Amino acid sequence: MVGLPARGKTYISQKGIKTKVFNVGNCRRELCGAQQDNTFFDPNNPCGQKQRKEAADLTLQDMLTWYSEQDGVVGIYDATNSTVQRRQWLHETLTQHDIQVFFIESICDDEKLVAANIRDVKLSSPDYKDMDPETAVSDFEARIAQYQSQYETIVEQDYSYIKLINVGSQFIVNMVKGYLESRIVYYLMNLHIRGRKIYMSRHGESMYNLDGKLGGDSDLSPRGRLYAQMLPGIIKEKLDGKEMVVWTSTLKRTIQTSEHLPYSKLHRKALDELDAGVCDGLTYEQVEEKYPEDFARRDEDKFNYRYRGGESYRDVVHRLEPIIMDLERQEDVLIIGHQAIIRCLYGFFMNYNQDELPYIKIPLHTLIELTPKAYSCEEKFYKADIPAVDTHREKPKQPRHPLTTQAIPGSGGEVPSPIAPSSPSINVPSSS
Ligand code: ATP
Ligand code: F6P
Repeated sequence: MVGLPARGKTYISQKGIKTKVFNVGNCRRELCGAQQDNTFFDPNNPCGQKQRKEAADLTLQDMLTWYSEQDGVVGIYDATNSTVQRRQWLHETLTQHDIQVFFIESICDDEKLVAANIRDVKLSSPDYKDMDPETAVSDFEARIAQYQSQYETIVEQDYSYIKLINVGSQFIVNMVKGYLESRIVYYLMNLHIRGRKIYMSRHGESMYNLDGKLGGDSDLSPRGRLYAQMLPGIIKEKLDGKEMVVWTSTLKRTIQTSEHLPYSKLHRKALDELDAGVCDGLTYEQVEEKYPEDFARRDEDKFNYRYRGGESYRDVVHRLEPIIMDLERQEDVLIIGHQAIIRCLYGFFMNYNQDELPYIKIPLHTLIELTPKAYSCEEKFYKADIPAVDTHREKPKQPRHPLTTQAIPGSGGEVPSPIAPSSPSINVPSSS
């Protein structure tokens, strides 16, 4: 990251591909204490300079350790990095460790926006805890001026970089290499910071839900139809006259749930429920009976387990990537999806890890409202007063079919477990 304070560097870093953010400011607070006034950031203050360099060194070291010991994929070094010298040091150190470097610079000369950013997020920073807001604002402005005095925008033509100018009004992209960098560029070009809400709901209760069956393409149950009738009223109250778009899957139960909504609709295949393959149409009990090893394997590692002829949660996360990208571009949107799909989308915005994600409780007949904020998402659940079955299955405390290599009594040796190895998974970076 490159940019003056309050240009959204940390905001931008929180988004997108599974990453770990290494924030120099946090390290500086730990080393030197939070409440330093602007003179600490004066380039002519040798003591401040020394301590800031120490925080920068330690944070970079931390990131290098993460790459080497924890198989890190995308590390974000979140600091101002606002001089040629600082970037040269970063570039050299990282390339020596075979790490590809991509700079993301956020430039913003919209004074009103910067002033609003300071009030929105900087006043609540530990740097200004218990301080009078006006004193804090003027100190932060003085801090920006300290950085401004030595700020050098990126001109290093041999580096890969993107400059985001005035939140999406202009972009300058240089020497983008490879798939991942191009996805990051695409993603950043879609980011906006206008306030908006993301609504999510599972379809109304379906006939298959009543029977406890997985998958399929069944109709809504009578109670599910009631939910579909009630949904426009619930949404209207929240929207307060604003427009929005509705995305459903291509399956009947989500389309029927959207039936009475007076907004433009898009039926998207990527939102179809996780494909249960050969288990489609079975109940959990029938799956356990017919495919006991598979059933146990799913309990063991639900995120990675791929149904025979079907999908894993990992596959679904991958297939939802374009939806997530599109969501960044949108204003208010309602997604009517399925249990696994809403788990993945909700889990993405609420930063759940891979082990927790497949067990997130997303009840039927409940509208979820997410409001993206600078560093997190606010959430509200609105439960409609229409009963529905509970389709959530908890992770069993004890596996019912042991999956470990088993010793055969009396044989003196070990035989491999009879369970087939899991099908290969696609390479989605593991969560940080
Ligand atoms: P610091 O250097 O003090 O840590 P920062 O550059 O990391 O500051 P953030 O803490 O991320 O800034 O500031 C968040 C604010 O910036 C939010 O209010 C967010 O809406 C806004 N913001 C997000 N993206 C941009 C952008 N591209 N330009 C300007 N402001 C932005
Ligand atoms: O001042 C903004 C800030 O985010 C500080 O909190 C942090 O110490 C600093 O930038 C990190 O950047 P630099 O490496 O330029 O000191």
